[in-house]
Amino acid sequence: MAPGARGAGPSEEWSEWRRRVDLDGYDARWARMAAAGQNPHGEADRVAGYGPASVLDAGCGTGRVAIELARRGIEVIGVDLDPDLLDQARAKAPELTWIEADLADLDLGRTFDVVVLAGNVVGFVEPSRRSAALTAAAAHVAPGGRLVSGCQLRPGWPTLDECDVWCRAAGLEPDERTATWEGEPIGADPDYAVTVHRRPPA
Ligand SMILES: C[S@@+](CC[C@H](N)C(=O)[O-])C[C@H]1O[C@@H](n2cnc3c(N)ncnc32)[C@H](O)[C@@H]1O
Repeated sequence: MAPGARGAGPSEEWSEWRRRVDLDGYDARWARMAAAGQNPHGEADRVAGYGPASVLDAGCGTGRVAIELARRGIEVIGVDLDPDLLDQARAKAPELTWIEADLADLDLGRTFDVVVLAGNVVGFVEPSRRSAALTAAAAHVAPGGRLVSGCQLRPGWPTLDECDVWCRAAGLEPDERTATWEGEPIGADPDYAVTVHRRPPA
């Protein structure tokens, strides 16, 4: 294992985020967006736009994306490593399936039309397990389905090239890449990207 790597479990960066961010405040942020007339459902809009019957919300956190997708009639399962965030998701939507698991070890024994990683999930995975996490997430994409990931491009976080290599090794092909969930074109030196990979139809 690389020096400083923590193995299974939350990354140091995720633990630091948890020390800094109040969970109620995190959810309130999206409510404030809605109150200000902004759309808080960019991720769900993008995913729903692919017309999936089933979605795996990988790194679902407090469930905001999964719950919105379920509200639109899509079958959704949420997976996350953090039991406290999952508790919030369960409290908001006890009728949905929420699974506590490390993405790097995930094997649900089924596939989904879309696997979505919203909100910097790949960056927050423990560095030595990012490749495994993306590989496992990709393994849950059905033939013809998509893996959709939105992540900041920060020093020390995965580069777009690294993510492309991991997805290609997992049998996915590049589909599209945009600057935002709303689909704005990506610039020459982006600090955020939404990347879509597709598994070729069977
Ligand atoms: C900033 S939150 C985003 C949550 C949610 N997707 C959203 O957009 O609101 C990042 C999430 O990644 C999860 N995460 C980090 N490493 C993980 C891992 N190895 N397996 C599963 N989830 C992980 C964290 O627990 C956290 O819920």
